[in-house]
Amino acid sequence: MTARQLTDRLGGLAFGGDYNPEQWGPEVWKEDDELMRLARVNLATVGVFSWALLEPEEGRYDFDWLDGHLDRLHAAGVAVDLATPTASPPPWFTLAHPDAMPVTPEGTRLTHGSRDTYCVAAPAYRRAARRIAGALAERYGDHPALALWHVHNEYVTLCHCDHAAAAFRVWLRARHGSLDALNEAWGTAFWSQHYTSWEQVLPPRATQWHQNPGLLVDFRRFWSDETLAAYREQRDAIRAHSDRPVTTNLMLPGYQNLDLWAFGREVDLVTVNHYPSEPGVAAAADTAFAADRARSFAGGAPWLLMEQGTNTVYAKGRVLAKEPGDILRHSLGHVARGSEGALFFQWRQSRAGAEQWHSAMVPHAGPDSRTFREVTALGEAVAGLAELAGSTVLARAAVLHDSDAWWATDVQGLPSSELDYLGPLQRAHRVLWDAGVTADFAHPEHDLSRYRLVLAPALVLLSDAGAANLRRYVEGGGTLLVQHAAGAVDERMHSHLGGYPAAPLREALGIRVEEYRPLREHEQIVLSDGTRATVWSESLRTEGAETLATYLHGMLAGSPALTRHRFGAGQAWYLSTRLDDTGYADLAARLLAESGVGPELPGLPDGVEAVTRHAADGRRWHVLINHRAEAVPLPEPANDLLTGARASELAPGGCAVLRAH
Ligand code: GLA
Repeated sequence: MTARQLTDRLGGLAFGGDYNPEQWGPEVWKEDDELMRLARVNLATVGVFSWALLEPEEGRYDFDWLDGHLDRLHAAGVAVDLATPTASPPPWFTLAHPDAMPVTPEGTRLTHGSRDTYCVAAPAYRRAARRIAGALAERYGDHPALALWHVHNEYVTLCHCDHAAAAFRVWLRARHGSLDALNEAWGTAFWSQHYTSWEQVLPPRATQWHQNPGLLVDFRRFWSDETLAAYREQRDAIRAHSDRPVTTNLMLPGYQNLDLWAFGREVDLVTVNHYPSEPGVAAAADTAFAADRARSFAGGAPWLLMEQGTNTVYAKGRVLAKEPGDILRHSLGHVARGSEGALFFQWRQSRAGAEQWHSAMVPHAGPDSRTFREVTALGEAVAGLAELAGSTVLARAAVLHDSDAWWATDVQGLPSSELDYLGPLQRAHRVLWDAGVTADFAHPEHDLSRYRLVLAPALVLLSDAGAANLRRYVEGGGTLLVQHAAGAVDERMHSHLGGYPAAPLREALGIRVEEYRPLREHEQIVLSDGTRATVWSESLRTEGAETLATYLHGMLAGSPALTRHRFGAGQAWYLSTRLDDTGYADLAARLLAESGVGPELPGLPDGVEAVTRHAADGRRWHVLINHRAEAVPLPEPANDLLTGARASELAPGGCAVLRAH
């Protein structure tokens, strides 16, 4: 099952959002039908938070109200993305199964009154979740309105309870085989942590000081696998009654409790939620970052933006207004990168509840509002893009992305508290975005041969297989940039002996790192080519590589900072510090030039985003978004699918979708 099933059913791209009719009454439902028609909504996500209504007491279901809404939506021509409500168990569930509530590292058991209060390792929760998923599928599995199944909502909760501990031990036995192997892997000879029985092994609960790094990373891996197992159970309970595609919506960009590569392989259609944390151009760059990740988790296949905000951005404790036109620009930012539509949280702004100030397609003010007018215009625009369904994006550059490396960067006791995962990952993507280059993300163990340029900005942990794969990539003709502290540890969190990083990558890079030399807070250093750097430095020796820049001052004066090694048919660059923005952009420009990667649509000025979607039969579309305050001429006049008219320029802040010849 694939995205194609959904777009065939809709006759084009998806447009709509989360719909919570249970918060309203018949008068509003009537207006909803009318406004959805006006806005050209064709898909509504229903039932995400409806557990308390659907199962008012254990084992007793009330589906009548939902029947009514599904029939009404179907009559109004709106297809349904039907959710299982398991992200928010009702109060009766908590009281009947207190052991299924999550426990924090400090030992506090959480209770109901918010949402996401469940432990995926608790048998009572798993049973209840399977049961309601199966009951919904049995009732609605072939309902004519049903287009997509939406399991749960953003699996995010971590738990440290006894159920989690028991399941963790089972997982550890499978991974390590024996207690001896576990002791060896976690280095328990240090600090007298040697385990003599499996029962002694606990989740990472509160400790006096630093936790064991191997335990921390293994617990995150385990939790992701446990969550994936919980997803699979619901998916399979649904598949027993229904042939519609099944998904679970992933949360981007900052939360990292799941290995999203693994989830990408288990869903029929990758769906993501995206809420940028800054307005303006930062939000556009963040949109590209999220969308390129979503497409990559989908293995390059079309995917779907399941949620975004309409007219606001949550930024550091404030609900800031988006600029006029951002609703279209952000939505097209996703569609350009392979989203099969644009959906929002939520259709109608709630009058009460914890998210009553979160934006919606129909705001508190009602349809006579800027937001609803922009939403309606977007609905019109999306309807005009039906022919893009099924096409995707072909990137020539990639940024390496691995949850193991992220989790490894989260452990305590690394050489610098400024070593961070998400920041460098975003920065590497951003430097390509600024250069007009569309990038994929790839796992270090993926086949990378289709990419001419690969950036590895934040791989503190690199598996032996990953190191060998990167070496193969360079040998085969690729251009690789590896950044500081890469491959500091292997998959067990063990440091490499004899110099960093792992031997196969060292050979490809033609260098050997002898010592890490983190910098002080706010310390700035200068390299021989004039670039400035912060955060980190390294004492390294070249072993075949040429030195492109050295450190200028201090203990490292004269020693290599940036190197390049021609290896096999390719070249491997190593950057042992964190360059400032200008230095990093200059380095990216050199790498792009050397690897022959450039914008897909050359000739556009900075600040104009252009991405091409390719269909299997060779048709192509350029999606253009002008982030500049002035009009920009198009390389050549062309028909714009957004307006149906011929366009020769992009208005300030304007967008266009052009059929390519
Ligand atoms: C998420 C959730 C929604 C809603 C929105 C807005 O991503 O999935 O239920 O809470 O954020 O905050």
